[in-house]
Amino acid sequence: MDELKELPLDHVAIAVPSIADALPTFERITGARSSPRRRVAAQGVELVFVGTGDGRLELLEPLDDDSPVARFLERRGPGLHHVAYRVPDVEAALERLTDAGLRAVDERPREGAGGHRIAFLHPGTASGVLVELVEGAATRPT
Ligand code: CO
Repeated sequence: MDELKELPLDHVAIAVPSIADALPTFERITGARSSPRRRVAAQGVELVFVGTGDGRLELLEPLDDDSPVARFLERRGPGLHHVAYRVPDVEAALERLTDAGLRAVDERPREGAGGHRIAFLHPGTASGVLVELVEGAATRPT
């Protein structure tokens, strides 16, 4: 087996009730421009990326009251929603981590923003933090 390479931080996602209200603050803090808003109906969110490189921010706004992000906001208020690491092969990463005893939300990869294959690890398995594994290129088209 290949030695595991250190995974780069792809993005950090923050749940907000309103992207329009939250965005100017994060643009001011980072000096970064934001991507066009994108709707991911399957996850019940609208999202925007602030910045384009490693560690950019993803702001998530729920599309309706039943979406997971809406429930997150109800329970915990706005704040850190997940941390995403970039992997060369999301299926292999998922297998490696569940074999090591970590709990996954997704048994199989699903499609995330921009058509990237993603999978989530359960927050109960990682100190209360939802962890996303995202497969693909270093920089998403904005
Ligand atoms: Co994400």
